[in-house]
Order: sequence, then structure tokens, then C-alpha cells
Amino acid sequence: MRQKIVAGNWKMNTNREEAESLAAALSSQFIGGSGVKMVVCPPFPWIMSVNQLLSVTEIAIGAQNCSGQSSGAFTGEVSASMLASAGVSYVITGHSERRSLYNESDADVLTKTLKILGENMTPIVCVGETLQERESGRLEEIISRQITSVLNGLNKDQIASIVIAYEPVWAIGTGLTASPEQAQEVHAFIRSLISGISGAEVADSLPILYGGSCNPGNAASLFACPDIDGGLIGGASLKAADFISISNSF
Ligand code: PGA
Repeated sequence: MRQKIVAGNWKMNTNREEAESLAAALSSQFIGGSGVKMVVCPPFPWIMSVNQLLSVTEIAIGAQNCSGQSSGAFTGEVSASMLASAGVSYVITGHSERRSLYNESDADVLTKTLKILGENMTPIVCVGETLQERESGRLEEIISRQITSVLNGLNKDQIASIVIAYEPVWAIGTGLTASPEQAQEVHAFIRSLISGISGAEVADSLPILYGGSCNPGNAASLFACPDIDGGLIGGASLKAADFISISNSF
């Protein structure tokens, strides 16, 4: 059985008080034992205090980004090893906001993925097409390029250690969600790409999350699809009750 995962991407939201009260609410509402791995990815400055507040739960801490460099004169950057020593166990890489607003390339995503794996953390590698790419019939070409450019730079053990998130760009923060059929189709395509590169066993074991306006109302129908193993949740992860409800939607 593949690990089911629900990860919350807080993005550049919350001040310290809001972050800590969200973490405290998650801590008090969390009920373990469901087999679903919950992950929260707060902004960098709140990672340590959120980690502390969640230490009584099995909720893991993630980060939203990391540097592709190891250490040194890179003003403003945060390295994978810093995140690991702060208690982070998952790191999002290749999020469409990083790709489009900060010009992160497929090569950057691979570099960061290797840094994250090098610190024994789990990369959540995001892929997804824009509406224009989908409407012009380029969906498979785009997804295939984003997936293969990372997977071709990893060995089989490394591939088996990542998580993929399919996030159609047109569904992120827009209230538009891919239908379960649309999402399942792309998830199955991604799994076939993984299988072609590293074999059916790895492909069958690798969690593929859906992201893009996932909420308590649509999570169950998405998570019921055979190739959807959970979600990467933006807006709805900022409300403890919604995030917990999504994690109970399997
Ligand atoms: P959203 O964001 O749930 O607010 O659409 C998802 C994401 O960007 O990870």
C-alpha cells in the first residue's frame, strides 16, 4: 500500500501569532492512527516553533523551498541541511509559483531535489500544466518534461524516496479544481512515466498527491481515485478544521 499524505502549504501567510495558534489548533484536533501522514509547511521563520507545538502529534514539518547550494555566500538563501537540523522532514520543490515567479527551471528542481534527498528529507516534487498548455494539447508533453527531467537525474533508490504532487496551475488558488477524472488521468500518466524509468514496483509505491483548490468538499471524490494518494493543500490548510477534515477524506 502506498503512503497516504496530506500536506499543507501555508505559502507566505501567517504572522507568528497566527502560525502558532494554527499549530496549536492542529495539535489539539489531531487524532492519529488513521495511517494518513499529515505534513505542514509553514514559512521559514515559524518552522521551529510550529515543530515544537506539533511535537506531541505525528504531524511532520515541511518547508516550502530550499536552496540549490550547500552553504556559503548566498544571501537570503536557506539550505537543505539547515532545514534538516531544524526538524524538517519534507521539502516542496518545483512549485508552480517558484517556477513562474522566480524562474526556477527543471534543472533547478533537480538540483534542489538532490540536496533534499542528501539530507534524508523527502522532496515533494510539483508538476503541472497551465491552462493554455492544456488547451493547446500540450498536457502530456509538459508533464512528461517536468517528470523526466527530475527522474532522469536520480537513481532508482532516490526515485523511490520522493513524493510527486500534480498541481494544474489553473487550479491553484483559483477555486477551480480538476475533476476527479481529469486528475486521475494525469496521475495515471505520471505513474506510467515513473514505471517506464524505474519499473512498476517503484511506480506502484510512489505517492502522487493532487493539489489545486482541494477542500473539505471535494477531497473525498479526488482521494477515491486509484492513483491519487493524497493532497497538497494551500488555502484550506490555513484552517485547522478544514485541513483535518481533508486528511479524514480517504
Ligand atoms: P490551493 O494551493 O490549495 O490554495 O489551490 C495549492 C498549492 O499551491 O499547493
